[in-house]
Amino acid sequence: MTHPIIPPPSPTAAHAMGMADGTDLSPLPAAMDRLSDISIRALANLVLDAAPLDQTPQSTTAIAAALGAAPRHGALLGRWLAALATRGVVQGGPAGWWRGDGPLPDAGMDDLAPAYAALGFPPRMAASHRLALGALPWLIRDQASIQQILFADGRVLEALAAYQDNHFTRYLNRVCAGLAAWRHDRQGPGMAVLELGGGAGLTTDAVLSRLGPGRADYRFTDLSRMFTLAAGQRFPGIETGVLDINAPFAAQGGADGSVDLVLAGNVLHNAADITASLRHIRQVLRPGGWLIFTESVWENEALLTCMGFLLSPAAGAPPLYRADRRAGLPFLDADGWRAELGAAGLSPGLCLPEAVSPMAAAGQCLFLGIAGDA
Ligand SMILES: C[S@@+](CC[C@H](N)C(=O)[O-])C[C@H]1O[C@@H](n2cnc3c(N)ncnc32)[C@H](O)[C@@H]1O
Repeated sequence: MTHPIIPPPSPTAAHAMGMADGTDLSPLPAAMDRLSDISIRALANLVLDAAPLDQTPQSTTAIAAALGAAPRHGALLGRWLAALATRGVVQGGPAGWWRGDGPLPDAGMDDLAPAYAALGFPPRMAASHRLALGALPWLIRDQASIQQILFADGRVLEALAAYQDNHFTRYLNRVCAGLAAWRHDRQGPGMAVLELGGGAGLTTDAVLSRLGPGRADYRFTDLSRMFTLAAGQRFPGIETGVLDINAPFAAQGGADGSVDLVLAGNVLHNAADITASLRHIRQVLRPGGWLIFTESVWENEALLTCMGFLLSPAAGAPPLYRADRRAGLPFLDADGWRAELGAAGLSPGLCLPEAVSPMAAAGQCLFLGIAGDA
Protein backbone atom coordinates (compact mmCIF):
# COMPACT_ATOMS: atom_id res chain seq x y z
CA MET A 1 0.00 0.00 0.00
CA THR A 2 1.36 3.43 -0.86
CA HIS A 3 1.05 6.35 1.48
CA PRO A 4 0.67 9.97 0.51
CA ILE A 5 3.59 12.35 0.79
CA ILE A 6 2.05 15.49 2.23
CA PRO A 7 4.24 18.58 2.04
CA PRO A 8 3.94 20.84 5.08
CA PRO A 9 2.84 24.46 4.70
CA SER A 10 5.40 27.23 4.31
CA PRO A 11 7.07 28.56 7.48
CA THR A 12 5.05 31.77 7.12
CA ALA A 13 1.75 29.91 6.91
CA ALA A 14 2.70 27.63 9.81
CA HIS A 15 3.74 30.60 11.96
CA ALA A 16 0.40 32.27 11.22
CA MET A 17 -1.35 29.17 12.59
CA GLY A 18 0.14 29.98 15.97
CA MET A 19 -0.74 33.65 15.99
CA ALA A 20 -4.49 33.31 16.15
CA ASP A 21 -5.36 35.24 19.29
CA GLY A 22 -3.94 38.68 18.54
CA THR A 23 -1.78 38.83 21.71
CA ASP A 24 0.61 41.80 21.84
CA LEU A 25 3.98 40.06 21.72
CA SER A 26 6.19 43.11 22.09
CA PRO A 27 6.56 42.84 25.93
CA LEU A 28 7.70 39.22 25.83
CA PRO A 29 11.48 39.62 25.29
CA ALA A 30 11.79 42.24 28.06
CA ALA A 31 9.77 40.11 30.48
CA MET A 32 11.95 37.11 29.67
CA ASP A 33 15.06 39.23 30.26
CA ARG A 34 13.61 40.26 33.62
CA LEU A 35 13.21 36.63 34.68
CA SER A 36 16.79 35.96 33.59
CA ASP A 37 18.03 38.93 35.62
CA ILE A 38 16.19 37.73 38.73
CA SER A 39 17.73 34.29 38.36
CA ILE A 40 21.26 35.59 37.73
CA ARG A 41 21.02 37.97 40.68
CA ALA A 42 19.97 35.13 42.98
CA LEU A 43 22.76 32.87 41.71
CA ALA A 44 25.36 35.62 42.07
CA ASN A 45 24.28 36.31 45.65
CA LEU A 46 24.39 32.62 46.54
CA VAL A 47 27.72 31.81 44.90
CA LEU A 48 29.58 34.98 45.92
CA ASP A 49 28.35 34.71 49.52
CA ALA A 50 29.52 31.12 49.82
CA ALA A 51 32.77 31.58 47.90
CA PRO A 52 33.97 35.19 47.72
CA LEU A 53 35.99 35.24 44.50
CA ASP A 54 37.50 38.73 44.68
CA GLN A 55 40.59 37.71 46.68
CA THR A 56 41.47 34.23 45.43
CA PRO A 57 40.22 32.30 42.39
CA GLN A 58 38.40 29.12 43.28
CA SER A 59 37.79 25.99 41.26
CA THR A 60 34.32 24.63 40.54
CA THR A 61 35.12 21.83 43.01
CA ALA A 62 35.97 24.34 45.74
CA ILE A 63 32.80 26.35 45.04
CA ALA A 64 30.75 23.14 45.16
CA ALA A 65 32.30 22.36 48.56
CA ALA A 66 31.62 25.87 49.83
CA LEU A 67 27.99 25.61 48.77
CA GLY A 68 27.72 22.05 50.09
CA ALA A 69 26.37 21.11 46.65
CA ALA A 70 25.02 17.57 46.30
CA PRO A 71 27.14 15.63 43.78
CA ARG A 72 24.15 15.03 41.51
CA HIS A 73 23.80 18.81 41.03
CA GLY A 74 27.43 19.17 39.92
CA ALA A 75 26.49 19.70 36.28
CA LEU A 76 23.82 22.25 37.26
CA LEU A 77 26.42 24.17 39.27
CA GLY A 78 28.65 24.12 36.19
CA ARG A 79 25.79 25.66 34.18
CA TRP A 80 25.23 28.28 36.91
CA LEU A 81 28.87 29.34 36.71
CA ALA A 82 28.79 29.38 32.91
CA ALA A 83 25.70 31.64 33.02
CA LEU A 84 27.36 33.97 35.52
CA ALA A 85 30.43 34.04 33.27
CA THR A 86 28.29 34.95 30.25
CA ARG A 87 27.12 38.00 32.22
CA GLY A 88 30.69 38.84 33.32
CA VAL A 89 29.79 38.34 36.99
CA VAL A 90 32.56 35.74 37.18
CA GLN A 91 35.47 34.96 34.89
CA GLY A 92 37.69 31.98 34.34
CA GLY A 93 36.77 28.33 34.11
CA PRO A 94 36.42 25.14 36.13
CA ALA A 95 40.06 25.26 37.28
CA GLY A 96 39.68 28.76 38.72
CA TRP A 97 36.88 31.33 38.86
CA TRP A 98 37.29 34.89 40.03
CA ARG A 99 34.99 37.89 40.28
CA GLY A 100 34.43 39.58 36.95
CA ASP A 101 33.56 43.22 36.45
CA GLY A 102 30.04 42.54 35.15
CA PRO A 103 27.40 44.31 37.26
CA LEU A 104 24.84 42.36 39.26
CA PRO A 105 21.45 42.75 37.60
CA ASP A 106 19.11 45.05 39.44
CA ALA A 107 16.20 42.65 39.82
CA GLY A 108 14.57 40.90 42.75
CA MET A 109 11.58 38.99 44.01
CA ASP A 110 9.16 41.88 43.48
CA ASP A 111 9.77 41.66 39.74
CA LEU A 112 8.88 38.00 39.56
CA ALA A 113 5.08 38.07 39.49
CA PRO A 114 4.80 40.91 36.92
CA ALA A 115 7.32 39.20 34.62
CA TYR A 116 5.50 35.87 34.75
CA ALA A 117 2.15 37.62 34.23
CA ALA A 118 3.52 39.41 31.14
CA LEU A 119 4.58 36.04 29.75
CA GLY A 120 1.05 34.73 30.17
CA PHE A 121 1.71 32.28 33.03
CA PRO A 122 -0.88 31.66 35.75
CA PRO A 123 0.05 33.05 39.23
CA ARG A 124 0.99 29.58 40.45
CA MET A 125 4.23 29.65 38.43
CA ALA A 126 5.53 32.88 39.99
CA ALA A 127 4.63 31.54 43.45
CA SER A 128 6.60 28.32 42.84
CA HIS A 129 9.62 30.15 41.47
CA ARG A 130 9.59 32.56 44.42
CA LEU A 131 9.73 29.60 46.80
CA ALA A 132 12.52 27.99 44.76
CA LEU A 133 14.60 31.19 44.83
CA GLY A 134 14.18 31.42 48.60
CA ALA A 135 15.21 27.78 48.96
CA LEU A 136 18.24 27.82 46.60
CA PRO A 137 20.88 27.10 49.29
CA TRP A 138 18.91 24.02 50.40
CA LEU A 139 17.96 22.90 46.90
CA ILE A 140 21.59 22.75 45.74
CA ARG A 141 22.44 20.69 48.86
CA ASP A 142 19.46 18.36 48.33
CA GLN A 143 18.14 19.40 51.72
CA ALA A 144 14.96 20.45 49.89
CA SER A 145 13.63 19.19 46.57
CA ILE A 146 12.12 21.11 43.69
CA GLN A 147 9.34 18.50 43.63
CA GLN A 148 8.38 19.49 47.21
CA ILE A 149 8.06 23.07 46.00
CA LEU A 150 6.31 22.50 42.68
CA PHE A 151 3.97 19.81 43.94
CA ALA A 152 3.54 21.10 47.51
CA ASP A 153 -0.25 20.76 47.33
CA GLY A 154 -0.09 17.33 45.66
CA ARG A 155 -1.61 18.72 42.45
CA VAL A 156 1.02 17.41 40.04
CA LEU A 157 -1.16 17.80 36.96
CA GLU A 158 -1.92 21.44 37.75
CA ALA A 159 1.74 22.16 38.43
CA LEU A 160 2.81 20.65 35.10
CA ALA A 161 0.02 22.54 33.34
CA ALA A 162 1.00 25.84 34.99
CA TYR A 163 4.54 25.52 33.69
CA GLN A 164 3.29 24.85 30.14
CA ASP A 165 0.61 27.55 30.23
CA ASN A 166 2.20 30.66 28.73
CA HIS A 167 2.29 32.64 25.50
CA PHE A 168 5.24 30.67 24.09
CA THR A 169 3.80 27.22 24.67
CA ARG A 170 0.32 28.26 23.58
CA TYR A 171 1.81 29.54 20.32
CA LEU A 172 3.72 26.28 19.77
CA ASN A 173 0.66 24.15 20.61
CA ARG A 174 -1.47 26.16 18.18
CA VAL A 175 1.09 25.66 15.41
CA CYS A 176 1.18 21.96 16.27
CA ALA A 177 -2.63 21.76 16.11
CA GLY A 178 -2.72 23.72 12.84
CA LEU A 179 -0.19 21.38 11.26
CA ALA A 180 -2.12 18.30 12.44
CA ALA A 181 -5.27 19.75 10.86
CA TRP A 182 -3.36 20.62 7.67
CA ARG A 183 -2.22 17.04 7.37
CA HIS A 184 -5.65 15.65 8.22
CA ASP A 185 -7.35 17.83 5.61
CA ARG A 186 -5.05 16.40 2.94
CA GLN A 187 -4.80 12.83 4.15
CA GLY A 188 -8.45 12.20 4.97
CA PRO A 189 -10.09 10.12 7.67
CA GLY A 190 -8.31 7.58 9.83
CA MET A 191 -5.11 9.54 10.37
CA ALA A 192 -3.19 7.66 13.08
CA VAL A 193 -1.72 10.00 15.69
CA LEU A 194 0.64 8.92 18.47
CA GLU A 195 1.39 11.47 21.19
CA LEU A 196 4.47 10.89 23.36
CA GLY A 197 4.88 12.28 26.88
CA GLY A 198 1.41 13.81 26.74
CA GLY A 199 1.66 14.93 30.39
CA ALA A 200 -0.96 17.44 31.46
CA GLY A 201 -2.57 17.35 28.02
CA LEU A 202 -2.10 20.94 26.84
CA THR A 203 -0.77 19.81 23.46
CA THR A 204 -3.48 17.14 23.29
CA ASP A 205 -6.19 19.67 24.04
CA ALA A 206 -4.96 22.07 21.35
CA VAL A 207 -4.76 19.32 18.72
CA LEU A 208 -8.03 17.54 19.53
CA SER A 209 -9.94 20.83 19.71
CA ARG A 210 -8.66 21.69 16.27
CA LEU A 211 -9.25 18.26 14.73
CA GLY A 212 -12.68 17.77 16.26
CA PRO A 213 -14.04 14.62 17.88
CA GLY A 214 -13.37 11.33 16.16
CA ARG A 215 -11.44 12.83 13.27
CA ALA A 216 -8.25 10.91 13.99
CA ASP A 217 -7.19 7.66 15.63
CA TYR A 218 -5.48 9.32 18.56
CA ARG A 219 -3.27 7.50 21.05
CA PHE A 220 -2.08 9.51 24.07
CA THR A 221 0.95 8.05 25.86
CA ASP A 222 3.26 8.98 28.70
CA LEU A 223 5.79 7.29 30.96
CA SER A 224 3.50 8.03 33.90
CA ARG A 225 0.23 6.14 34.30
CA MET A 226 -1.11 9.03 36.35
CA PHE A 227 -1.06 11.20 33.22
CA THR A 228 -2.52 8.54 30.93
CA LEU A 229 -5.39 7.89 33.35
CA ALA A 230 -6.14 11.60 33.64
CA ALA A 231 -6.06 12.00 29.84
CA GLY A 232 -8.41 9.05 29.39
CA GLN A 233 -10.98 10.75 31.62
CA ARG A 234 -10.53 14.18 30.10
CA PHE A 235 -10.53 13.21 26.41
CA PRO A 236 -13.17 10.55 25.77
CA GLY A 237 -12.75 8.58 22.57
CA ILE A 238 -8.95 8.52 22.51
CA GLU A 239 -6.75 5.55 23.32
CA THR A 240 -4.27 5.95 26.16
CA GLY A 241 -1.29 3.90 27.33
CA VAL A 242 2.11 3.92 28.94
CA LEU A 243 5.01 4.31 26.51
CA ASP A 244 8.69 4.93 27.31
CA ILE A 245 10.52 6.85 24.59
CA ASN A 246 13.75 5.11 25.65
CA ALA A 247 12.58 1.67 24.50
CA PRO A 248 11.49 0.39 21.06
CA PHE A 249 7.82 1.20 20.49
CA ALA A 250 6.83 -2.09 18.82
CA ALA A 251 6.69 -3.87 22.20
CA GLN A 252 4.68 -0.96 23.63
CA GLY A 253 1.75 -1.01 21.23
CA GLY A 254 3.41 1.03 18.47
CA ALA A 255 3.79 -1.35 15.52
CA ASP A 256 6.40 -0.47 12.91
CA GLY A 257 5.08 1.78 10.12
CA SER A 258 1.65 2.21 11.73
CA VAL A 259 1.50 5.94 12.50
CA ASP A 260 0.98 9.03 10.30
CA LEU A 261 1.78 11.68 12.88
CA VAL A 262 3.87 11.54 16.06
CA LEU A 263 3.55 14.46 18.48
CA ALA A 264 5.98 15.21 21.31
CA GLY A 265 5.47 18.46 23.20
CA ASN A 266 8.54 19.27 25.32
CA VAL A 267 9.34 15.59 25.85
CA LEU A 268 12.37 14.55 23.82
CA HIS A 269 14.94 16.18 26.14
CA ASN A 270 13.93 13.43 28.61
CA ALA A 271 15.41 10.82 26.27
CA ALA A 272 18.44 8.99 27.61
CA ASP A 273 19.73 9.01 24.02
CA ILE A 274 17.96 11.35 21.60
CA THR A 275 19.36 9.56 18.55
CA ALA A 276 17.93 6.24 19.75
CA SER A 277 14.52 7.73 20.62
CA LEU A 278 14.27 9.44 17.22
CA ARG A 279 15.03 6.09 15.58
CA HIS A 280 12.19 4.50 17.57
CA ILE A 281 9.95 7.29 16.28
CA ARG A 282 11.13 6.82 12.70
CA GLN A 283 10.35 3.12 13.07
CA VAL A 284 6.74 3.68 14.11
CA LEU A 285 6.07 6.21 11.32
CA ARG A 286 4.84 5.31 7.86
CA PRO A 287 7.02 6.60 5.00
CA GLY A 288 6.00 10.22 4.56
CA GLY A 289 4.75 10.39 8.16
CA TRP A 290 5.49 13.43 10.28
CA LEU A 291 7.08 13.96 13.65
CA ILE A 292 6.13 17.30 15.20
CA PHE A 293 7.95 18.11 18.40
CA THR A 294 8.57 21.16 20.53
CA GLU A 295 11.77 21.58 22.50
CA SER A 296 14.06 24.06 24.16
CA VAL A 297 17.00 25.15 22.04
CA TRP A 298 18.90 26.60 25.02
CA GLU A 299 18.50 26.59 28.78
CA ASN A 300 17.13 30.02 29.56
CA GLU A 301 18.54 31.51 32.74
CA ALA A 302 15.19 31.43 34.53
CA LEU A 303 15.24 27.64 34.33
CA LEU A 304 18.52 27.48 36.24
CA THR A 305 16.94 28.43 39.57
CA CYS A 306 13.73 26.41 39.30
CA MET A 307 12.93 23.68 36.78
CA GLY A 308 16.65 23.17 36.14
CA PHE A 309 16.83 21.06 39.31
CA LEU A 310 14.59 18.52 37.54
CA LEU A 311 17.31 18.13 34.91
CA SER A 312 19.88 16.68 37.34
CA PRO A 313 20.36 12.90 37.50
CA ALA A 314 19.07 10.90 40.45
CA ALA A 315 21.49 10.54 43.37
CA GLY A 316 24.20 8.03 42.49
CA ALA A 317 23.16 7.81 38.82
CA PRO A 318 25.70 8.53 36.06
CA PRO A 319 25.78 11.97 34.41
CA LEU A 320 23.01 12.66 31.91
CA TYR A 321 23.05 13.93 28.32
CA ARG A 322 26.24 12.15 27.30
CA ALA A 323 24.87 9.54 24.86
CA ASP A 324 24.04 11.89 21.97
CA ARG A 325 25.03 15.27 20.50
CA ARG A 326 24.15 17.13 23.73
CA ALA A 327 27.66 16.71 25.18
CA GLY A 328 26.44 17.03 28.78
CA LEU A 329 23.94 19.88 28.30
CA PRO A 330 20.20 19.18 28.61
CA PHE A 331 19.17 20.76 25.30
CA LEU A 332 20.45 20.95 21.73
CA ASP A 333 20.42 24.10 19.66
CA ALA A 334 18.22 24.18 16.55
CA ASP A 335 21.01 22.89 14.30
CA GLY A 336 21.66 20.09 16.77
CA TRP A 337 18.00 19.01 16.78
CA ARG A 338 17.98 19.09 12.96
CA ALA A 339 21.17 17.01 12.85
CA GLU A 340 19.59 14.43 15.18
CA LEU A 341 16.49 14.30 12.96
CA GLY A 342 18.61 13.68 9.88
CA ALA A 343 20.64 10.96 11.62
CA ALA A 344 17.40 9.13 12.42
CA GLY A 345 16.12 9.19 8.82
CA LEU A 346 13.74 12.12 9.32
CA SER A 347 14.17 15.03 6.90
CA PRO A 348 14.13 18.29 8.83
CA GLY A 349 11.15 20.38 7.69
CA LEU A 350 9.89 23.35 9.66
CA CYS A 351 11.60 25.05 12.59
CA LEU A 352 9.59 27.85 14.22
CA PRO A 353 9.53 30.59 15.42
CA GLU A 354 12.16 32.44 13.45
CA ALA A 355 14.90 33.95 15.59
CA VAL A 356 13.62 37.51 14.97
CA SER A 357 10.16 36.77 16.40
CA PRO A 358 9.37 37.88 19.99
CA MET A 359 8.13 34.29 20.33
CA ALA A 360 11.77 33.17 20.17
CA ALA A 361 12.60 34.83 23.50
CA ALA A 362 12.04 31.73 25.62
CA GLY A 363 14.22 29.48 23.47
CA GLN A 364 11.44 27.03 22.63
CA CYS A 365 10.90 25.83 19.07
CA LEU A 366 8.67 23.57 17.05
CA PHE A 367 10.32 21.14 14.63
CA LEU A 368 8.79 19.01 11.91
CA GLY A 369 10.58 15.94 10.58
CA ILE A 370 9.38 13.84 7.65
CA ALA A 371 10.01 10.10 7.55
CA GLY A 372 11.98 9.12 4.46
CA ASP A 373 11.65 5.74 2.77
CA ALA A 374 12.45 3.02 5.28
C1 LIG B 1 6.92 18.81 29.93
S1 LIG B 1 5.93 17.41 30.05
C2 LIG B 1 5.00 17.35 28.58
C3 LIG B 1 3.93 18.33 28.52
C4 LIG B 1 2.82 18.02 27.58
N1 LIG B 1 3.17 18.26 26.21
C5 LIG B 1 1.62 18.84 27.99
O1 LIG B 1 1.05 19.52 27.15
O2 LIG B 1 1.26 18.79 29.17
C6 LIG B 1 7.05 16.09 29.74
C7 LIG B 1 6.38 14.75 29.84
O3 LIG B 1 7.31 13.76 29.43
C8 LIG B 1 7.05 12.60 30.19
N2 LIG B 1 8.23 11.74 30.14
C9 LIG B 1 9.39 11.84 30.84
N3 LIG B 1 10.23 10.84 30.51
C10 LIG B 1 9.58 10.09 29.57
C11 LIG B 1 9.92 8.90 28.87
N4 LIG B 1 11.10 8.30 29.06
N5 LIG B 1 9.01 8.40 28.00
C12 LIG B 1 7.82 9.00 27.82
N6 LIG B 1 7.44 10.13 28.46
C13 LIG B 1 8.31 10.66 29.34
C14 LIG B 1 6.74 13.14 31.58
O4 LIG B 1 6.00 12.20 32.35
C15 LIG B 1 5.94 14.38 31.26
O5 LIG B 1 4.57 14.14 31.24
